[in-house]
Amino acid sequence: MGSRATCGSVLSIALFILTGCTPLGLNTARSDTNGLPPAAPPIIAPEQGSSLSSPEIWGEHRKAYLRGAFEAWVYGPVPSELRAVEIARRTVDEAYAGGLGILEEVEVRVGEGPQAPTFHIALATPRSVPPGMRSPLIVGENFCGNPTIAEAPSLSPPKNGEGCSATGAVGAVLRAIFGRHILESPNEEILRRGYAYANVYPGELVADNPRRARSDLEVFSALLPESRRPRGAIAVWAAAFGWSLDVLEEDPRIDPARTAIYGHSRHGKAALLAGALDSRIEAVIAHQSGRGGASLTRSRTGETLTRITSSYPHWFDPNFVRFGMRPDDPPIDQHMLIAMLAPRPVLLGNGWRDVWSDPNSAFRAAAGATVVYDLLGVPGLTQRGMSDQSSEGAIDYYIRPGGHGVTEGDWKRFMDFLDHRLR
Ligand code: GCU
Repeated sequence: MGSRATCGSVLSIALFILTGCTPLGLNTARSDTNGLPPAAPPIIAPEQGSSLSSPEIWGEHRKAYLRGAFEAWVYGPVPSELRAVEIARRTVDEAYAGGLGILEEVEVRVGEGPQAPTFHIALATPRSVPPGMRSPLIVGENFCGNPTIAEAPSLSPPKNGEGCSATGAVGAVLRAIFGRHILESPNEEILRRGYAYANVYPGELVADNPRRARSDLEVFSALLPESRRPRGAIAVWAAAFGWSLDVLEEDPRIDPARTAIYGHSRHGKAALLAGALDSRIEAVIAHQSGRGGASLTRSRTGETLTRITSSYPHWFDPNFVRFGMRPDDPPIDQHMLIAMLAPRPVLLGNGWRDVWSDPNSAFRAAAGATVVYDLLGVPGLTQRGMSDQSSEGAIDYYIRPGGHGVTEGDWKRFMDFLDHRLR
């Protein structure tokens, strides 16, 4: 009986995986976008006229309208009106990453007052920078805390980080399934290529846990009027990219005109949102951001809306649960979020076997956003299909074999993209 039950569970787990009901899906994303609905609704409001000939159609007014719609329907208010300041800094390693860089830890406070939340940035800057030059910057968010991603145990252990185990058998399994760089970044290679690399564990601000997230979100009540209080973790994680820039752009070693942000999966959702709302961000890498990220909410493949809002009720505005369920559907979808990045470069990373993240509808969203890039005189998505990997446009749709995770090849592609687009 016992062994039958075990067999049954193994079989159902295997079926679950094979049918693509988890990020570990072993089936392959559909590569043909013909016959599938294009990104909807139209990106330019009908009352603005159907002509896309004038860049003025895409003005601050339209962006403000879209921000309001994404806040109302998907993410809740993004508290980017709060400013962040540095409150402490220490040097952690003068000869970091084999002597290629200097590692510092910066403590940051968001807003004013005794309840103002704080978080840490692990900042690695290259030691050798040509005279008179400043380094381009990548700000990344991570799953397991700054000491893990930076491979520097003397960084402060993250608040709310106890749930993550990067060591022992659990760490080994995570690396085997999701790739080595799911936990640690290729820190040496990033510095060798001349980038400053800042890392944030956004769970320090809002825990990635439904119960604790609720009380962390409450902290913002003292700082903001009721209508602007965040109602979902992703909105705060998105704002954390900007709060990092508030501090890092003051650093004379960093070039504020070359700042990129990076996020994988849930942090890819946050990175897209941050880039859409914060024009200081020059380039975005959103890898496998999936539902609530680059993939269309109206899509019928991959993770369902019901599933994401029930598994992760703390990520979004409670209204997101109702998206698409009513006859008066929200007048937005994720292609509009990508369009808000225009004309800035964005890399959308995907894996053929990561059906859960819905690479097919991410391609359609990228295609749907292109109209705004065109309007602003910059080619958006130039790839003719998902398999066409020769991107010439500002929207770079990247897809590789394999599933959900971050591999060495992914980081090489991320950095090639930045080398090409930021310099
Ligand atoms: C889950 C979730 C996804 C998310 C992913 C991640 O799989 O369903 O929406 O992107 O976790 O963050 O790794």
